[in-house]
Amino acid sequence: MCGIVGYTGFEAAAPRLLDGLEKLAYRGYDSAGIALHERGGLVTARAVGKLGELIGLTRGGSIYRGTCGIGHTRWATHGAPAARNAHPHLSQDGGVAVVHNGIIENYRILKAELEAEGAVFSSETDSEVIPFLIAKYLKQTGEPEEAIRRATARLVGAYALGILFSEYPGRIYAVRYQSPLVAAHCEGCSLIASDVPALLEYTRQVIYPAEGEVVCLTPDAMTVTNADGKAVRHLPHTVEWDSAAARKDGYSSFMEKEIREVPRAMEQTIRSLTDGEGRCTDLGGGIDPARLRETEELCFLGCGSAYHVGVAAQYCAEKLLGIPVRTEPASEFRYRRVPLAKNCLAVAVSQSGETADTLAAVRESRRRGIYVLGVVNVVGSAIARETDAVLYTRAGPEIAVATTKAYCAQLCAVYLLIAAILRAKGNEEEARRLERAVAALPECAAAVVGRAEKIMTLASSLSGARDAFFIGRGADYAACMEGSLKLKEITYSHAEAYAAGELKHGTISLIEEGVPVVAVLTQPHILAKTLSGAEEVRARGARVIAIAGEGVALPEDFADRDVISVPVPDPDVSPAVSTVAMQLLALGVCRARALDPDQPRNLAKSVTVE
Ligand code: F6R
Repeated sequence: MCGIVGYTGFEAAAPRLLDGLEKLAYRGYDSAGIALHERGGLVTARAVGKLGELIGLTRGGSIYRGTCGIGHTRWATHGAPAARNAHPHLSQDGGVAVVHNGIIENYRILKAELEAEGAVFSSETDSEVIPFLIAKYLKQTGEPEEAIRRATARLVGAYALGILFSEYPGRIYAVRYQSPLVAAHCEGCSLIASDVPALLEYTRQVIYPAEGEVVCLTPDAMTVTNADGKAVRHLPHTVEWDSAAARKDGYSSFMEKEIREVPRAMEQTIRSLTDGEGRCTDLGGGIDPARLRETEELCFLGCGSAYHVGVAAQYCAEKLLGIPVRTEPASEFRYRRVPLAKNCLAVAVSQSGETADTLAAVRESRRRGIYVLGVVNVVGSAIARETDAVLYTRAGPEIAVATTKAYCAQLCAVYLLIAAILRAKGNEEEARRLERAVAALPECAAAVVGRAEKIMTLASSLSGARDAFFIGRGADYAACMEGSLKLKEITYSHAEAYAAGELKHGTISLIEEGVPVVAVLTQPHILAKTLSGAEEVRARGARVIAIAGEGVALPEDFADRDVISVPVPDPDVSPAVSTVAMQLLALGVCRARALDPDQPRNLAKSVTVE
């Protein structure tokens, strides 16, 4: 989704803004722009395409002298990717510049109202009404903060805004509602951004403004006022990530680096949720065991891969806990009336902690009196703030758009949550068994990562395939959902996950000579069943690639080159290992097709709008 940066200090702002935008490029974008206080007014530069276009246009920012500015990467929602639609947008009189992340749902009404007053717009965006409104209220009030408050009071939707006024050189204003925003003041400058990687070169002390608060930044200070205009004090959060974590470090892509970081992400997550003996009694202080004891139902909520984490957890939880467990895509849950028990524990899974649908599902659950636990990677993010308790995954910053290490860390966290519930309910033996299985996951994942080249070489032989199917049963099916999503996202192949037993109820008609079918085989009790599904498609010409638990006996005529063995500490937690093999498979196909795995077309890292 769109990225916002802002810098005000004593150095030239433009190169810093361009650098900040590069750090946010992982969020996904199709055009970019900057605005600066320059020669007594506001100037803007905007370009379609990769950031290199904007960098070229501004010669790396060297044509500007201004020390205060805002920048934006745009992921088109309203209006095509075009320079006229790129941000920053200016008010008609050129006095106000705005960058916006989010969607203004009532922009048509506002536009019509402003047009009736003589406004002439130059873009098709929903965002352009914002500087026009702010300029209108500035004329009425003569006071920038009040103008921002009045303008934002008219907006329906989601927004994080960075704002410049030509009359107030050296100042940036910022405000948010439902969209993410971080701000910081450090030696000699103040900054805003959509996400912390853009700030890490400067500081690790940041604040997360609350909804509706107006932040005013100058080189010397940062002040925050609430909706009544009263000053608010924020204690800075310390970000644990350092700037090295957000660099490629010699790898061909962030995605490759991040897959190789899976074992560490798991290890750090497990360590932070367990005590010295590997017990997860209160999950590192994340939750009160008494609350866990009362749990009579579990409901996992998330989107995309985070939803798949819930599906994998559901198989494990319903088997071990014997209570009802459901998993809902957050985007559906929010508009349904899913009946939930009074003592249901809702678990909202989100890497970014800012996915709009997951946040809405959290709000809806809490409104209904359900206790919500967040499983979140970004400290201080909206979902972390709005849930009743948080289990942080410690995957570090994830830059590649398609999630890998965060997904695996999330699985560790939800398995440990299940172990903690088992213990709270008095089933110490099963809790210990599960904890030991989770403790073994980083080593098993490291063994798969150690076979990365072999897996990617196998993948390159699939690079011509247009379609692929992923089949498995039980937890293997959950893993298949994630494996097929990875392939779709970064290779643009059509890929489908199927519960192996469902295949013959229709989809088998799509199987033809040479179609790759990835069969995940880690569940001993239903292995024979999945294998017979694999045999059925082989008989119809499919090329079956087996991702099999070590020691699983496969039919003798299975081609060795098409078997990936994965060590599985326990079938209940196998998706955390088998998925790593599928992440590498997808990366291998992507590499063979010379595609960019980090920024797949049309995708955004943080989906902060509906
Ligand atoms: C897939 C992927 C997405 C995210 C989804 C939720 O590779 O990255 O499906 O999992 O957009 O994002 P978070 O976890 O940030 O809520």
